[in-house]
Amino acid sequence: MQDDVKTFQDKMVDVLNYGSLNLAMGLGYRAGLFDVMDAMARPCTVDEIGTAAKLNSRYVREWLGVMVCGKIVDLVRGEDGEPRFFLPKTHGDVLARRAGSGNLGVYTQEIPLLTACAMEPVFKGFQTGDGIPYGQYPAFHDFMAQLGDAKHRRVLVDTFLPSVDDGRLVQDLHRGIDVCDLGCAQGVATLLMAQAFPASRFTGIDISAEALETARADACEKGLTNVGFEQRDAAGLSHPNDLSARFDYITAFDAIHDQTRPLEALRGIHEILKEDGAFSMIDIAAESDIDGNRDHPMGAFLYTVSLMHCMPVGLVDGGAGLGMMWGRQLAEGMLEQAGFERVSVMEIPDDPFNLHFFCRK
Ligand SMILES: C[S@@+](CC[C@H](N)C(=O)[O-])C[C@H]1O[C@@H](n2cnc3c(N)ncnc32)[C@H](O)[C@@H]1O
Repeated sequence: MQDDVKTFQDKMVDVLNYGSLNLAMGLGYRAGLFDVMDAMARPCTVDEIGTAAKLNSRYVREWLGVMVCGKIVDLVRGEDGEPRFFLPKTHGDVLARRAGSGNLGVYTQEIPLLTACAMEPVFKGFQTGDGIPYGQYPAFHDFMAQLGDAKHRRVLVDTFLPSVDDGRLVQDLHRGIDVCDLGCAQGVATLLMAQAFPASRFTGIDISAEALETARADACEKGLTNVGFEQRDAAGLSHPNDLSARFDYITAFDAIHDQTRPLEALRGIHEILKEDGAFSMIDIAAESDIDGNRDHPMGAFLYTVSLMHCMPVGLVDGGAGLGMMWGRQLAEGMLEQAGFERVSVMEIPDDPFNLHFFCRK
């Protein structure tokens, strides 16, 4: 790859423009500006948009400047000569909250949020190699829970679980089995499963007391009696313990690569599974060798999320710091080391970003 200087200068100009655009879009998304403009569905003045969004017009005008130059919003001039701004419907289809599962606008908040949480600690990490504790990222974790809710609601019960073990898992879930959701955070997936399969019993495990408090409150609000949450370090389950051979099925949604001792955590999962029990590890679809990720359509974005969050939280206390892009080959090797001899790796319907590592004890 040998670009001439002009080509690379052009690319750098794109980088600076798109990076700025992402930041401004994240702010506008949070402020509801895309929804307001989408609902207006016609060219409007700055004041009309500011009033409809209940926002300060001066800020809105500057933001519209970014959106027009970034070709997100069209500018037309009325007969009175005043500029009017219009969000094309095709852009609203992707940016407004009404886009539902096709909503890409929500992701514009991710890098700005991580920057606000951890810019300085990550910068220091380059010098010290130190990790960054989860507590540094409260706003980011709330945001991820909202994203998780949308994602799991769409994919988990209707698509993912019926695909596991050729439909046999769902039959067992309807009949009534013991399920553990490891690294459950605020319990979004755990609660959806508990609601969908009332005959089964669910245990969410996480190291974060705060996240579990939210999960318990949510379970209470939903009146669910077949779910409980326990604060545990997954790595501490790797030797015989009170949960040994307790579960028929265990899930870990994006919850292994962040751990400081992932191999021990996987050994812990093996320990608490019943004989012939099944484990679904859902983790990012990537290659362990950077070279294999060159053409990943969102490789730079995902490595940045990893640099700003997944890798540093995994480095705490001298942890492994695998990072989000640890990749399929390393994951398969670790599952085998943890004692899982039968591992199948599958794509997930409707979820191009993750892989399903299905393991039998
Ligand atoms: C990226 S979140 C995954 C959230 C959730 N599974 C979902 O898909 O919405 C990773 C979770 O793993 C938890 N975690 C990290 N280290 C852990 C450990 N050693 N034992 C148990 N949970 C841990 C974190 O507290 C966090 O809630």
